[in-house]
Amino acid sequence: MQRGQPSDADFGLSDGLLTALGESDTHMDGLDLRNYPGNVAGLPSARALFAQYLDVKAENVVVWNNSSLELQGLVLTFALLHGLRGSSAPWVAGGQKPKMIVTVPGYDRHFLLLQTLGFELLCVNMEADGPDVDAAELLAAGDPLVKGILFVPTYSNPGGQSISAEKARRLAALQAAAPDFTIFADDAYRVHHLDGEQDEPVNFVALSRDAGHPDRAFVFASTSKITFASAGLGFMASSEDNVRWLGKYLGAQSIGPNKVEQARHVKFLNAYEGGLEGLMRDHAALVAPKFRAVYEALEGGLGEGGGGYATWTTPRGGYFISLDTAEPVASRVVELAEAAGISLTPAGATYPDGQDPRNTNIRLSPTRPPLEEVGEAMRGVATCIRLASEEVRAGR
Ligand SMILES: Cc1ncc(COP(=O)(O)O)c(C=O)c1O
Repeated sequence: MQRGQPSDADFGLSDGLLTALGESDTHMDGLDLRNYPGNVAGLPSARALFAQYLDVKAENVVVWNNSSLELQGLVLTFALLHGLRGSSAPWVAGGQKPKMIVTVPGYDRHFLLLQTLGFELLCVNMEADGPDVDAAELLAAGDPLVKGILFVPTYSNPGGQSISAEKARRLAALQAAAPDFTIFADDAYRVHHLDGEQDEPVNFVALSRDAGHPDRAFVFASTSKITFASAGLGFMASSEDNVRWLGKYLGAQSIGPNKVEQARHVKFLNAYEGGLEGLMRDHAALVAPKFRAVYEALEGGLGEGGGGYATWTTPRGGYFISLDTAEPVASRVVELAEAAGISLTPAGATYPDGQDPRNTNIRLSPTRPPLEEVGEAMRGVATCIRLASEEVRAGR
């Protein structure tokens, strides 16, 4: 229950990717896939495919290699070294330490990436309808070193919350002290609906343009949880000017991304029954029962609504459930579960530096284990929560 990875059955849906290209598939879009000509923003057909995915035009898209996290790191690094289009100087000019707003509980790799690059993190809460925008506005208005916000806008990691249209508009229009304040939206789960009602993803590129900040948003995503987690495609959308800005720096360090992989994804996804949406429906059929198994096991073991022991989110999509214990026992629950052979995400992982100030939050990742094991593991977790909570209550 620890790793936010697809299951073997999820991967199996995309095994056709391995043979999607034949010996005659040497060209696409009039380009020789085997040769250099750069196309640093990606193969035109791949840009068009993922433009649909992100609800923008192909000109707004860069398709890179296998990781959206890498693309986030590249954009942030170029901003630090050169500044963004709206910057008067590189973000590290004069030895200053730029700051980035992040949401908590949040994604540990965002914290790691930003801290590794030298950002100071400013935390705002992730609420049921997205980040606490009041808090973000206050932080951004008061300090020109606050350069932006990095968060997951749809089915966030770990709570599965999606930003409301209203909050998205407020972020796009936010009055920041930094003229180059930027929305870094990691839309990793934009199309990862489960099998019931769906949240409506927002379009930060259009919202920012409409708010008079055409270069404010970079939106990232990948096929890591669609096709293969280590061999998918990472891509991003932004204004056409930002695409040219990014292309200039990407093109200095690479003649271009892997066009064979891009062509393979285009052929496979376009040929899949129902296209990309059809593939996501097939994923949902595998993943949704696992989310239900988590809720059933928790309700069964703790009582209705968590019985005063814990509460948890019930997202309409994504890969995770965020659980909060009533007592400060998250680390003890993870320890007890470990001893029982159940591997949970380390307590604290959803906060910067691994430090959950209340020691209550645990990220549950039901996608990887087979369905039967999800129920069994979560029944064990429920027992660990009861035990750890009673230990604390007995000691009072
Ligand atoms: C929010 C979020 N962003 C990015 C990633 C990783 O994406 P990629 O494989 O494209 O680097 C994950 C993986 O768990 C994730 O949860």
